[in-house]
Amino acid sequence: MPNRHLHDTVRAIEWSDDAILLLDQRLLPAQNTRIAISDAGAAAAAIRDMVVRGAPAIGITAAYAVVLAARAAWQTDRAAWRDVVQDDLDRLAASRPTAVNLFWALERMRRLMDGIDGDPVPVLLAEARRIHADDIAANHRMGELGAALVSGHAVLTHCNTGSLATGGYGTALGVIRSAYASGRIKHVYADETRPWLQGARLTAWELVQDGIPVDLICEGAAASLLRDGKVGWVIVGADRIAANGDTANKIGTYSLAVLARHHGVKFMVAAPTSTIDPATPDGAAIPIEQRPVTEVLTLAGQRVAAAGAGAWNPAFDVTPANLIDAIVTERGVIEAPDAAKIARHMAG
Ligand code: MRU
Repeated sequence: MPNRHLHDTVRAIEWSDDAILLLDQRLLPAQNTRIAISDAGAAAAAIRDMVVRGAPAIGITAAYAVVLAARAAWQTDRAAWRDVVQDDLDRLAASRPTAVNLFWALERMRRLMDGIDGDPVPVLLAEARRIHADDIAANHRMGELGAALVSGHAVLTHCNTGSLATGGYGTALGVIRSAYASGRIKHVYADETRPWLQGARLTAWELVQDGIPVDLICEGAAASLLRDGKVGWVIVGADRIAANGDTANKIGTYSLAVLARHHGVKFMVAAPTSTIDPATPDGAAIPIEQRPVTEVLTLAGQRVAAAGAGAWNPAFDVTPANLIDAIVTERGVIEAPDAAKIARHMAG
């Protein structure tokens, strides 16, 4: 019987020697390189440039970055450190627009700052560590809850939602790890996830390291795979879940939800409650990041598209709540999500 804890060996974010150590996800799987981040400006750039990515991982990095910002501000002006820190908070908030975990973490750190007396660093560092540890615990809980729903020989997932995208273990990939560890599934299909190839480079890397069998597919192969009946569930993460259950996730997720419904395959979103944004009423109100067209026009740094062609490169799309069979958070399972169920879940 596979052991759940064997299937969890990767960590993307560490706090070490007064700096954030980030595994550079742009270089995986070819190079396993860590970058030391010692100031909040560098952390904002690392988030913007995708050294670290994935909604919960962005939030955790931002929380540690607030510690770096407060340390610098405290050294600059002990009386007015809260004012000095503001520019760094703004810089971090501007790094990426869609993943609400970024804003959730910044707001949680900012609220704590209000009540601090004396050196802010120990208090803020303890809070950032708590955000990090709570995320890993939430992922393990989602893993158990989500795995209990899963049936069928295999699942299909999209983008990377694993240890690299979170504090550790993963959201959708945590459910998949737990489902594999408990013998509920035997196999994983992963979309390669053009244009940034999170599936091919990151998800496949994590699953191979953990000994979980994985086959990559081009996104265009998903319809045939689902029609063939090999896949019981499509399981994805989220960057922001609106108050009515509409869910923003990596571009291509919406297509999978439409295909899953058409073929009678179940569709699950696994995300911590820090990804649910009660202030965003529905999917139309979720800001969708547009990324550089070079990501579409090139492959591994080489131009592959015909000269003169343009590109459209939204990083995320919105899956309407009525295509989602279950949202799994650390608090429980919301089946057929809607605004009333989400409000009850968040209040409970
Ligand atoms: O652009 P990315 O790589 O940050 O997008 C990541 C995703 O879309 C993930 O599916 C989402 O953040 C959930 S991660 C647990």
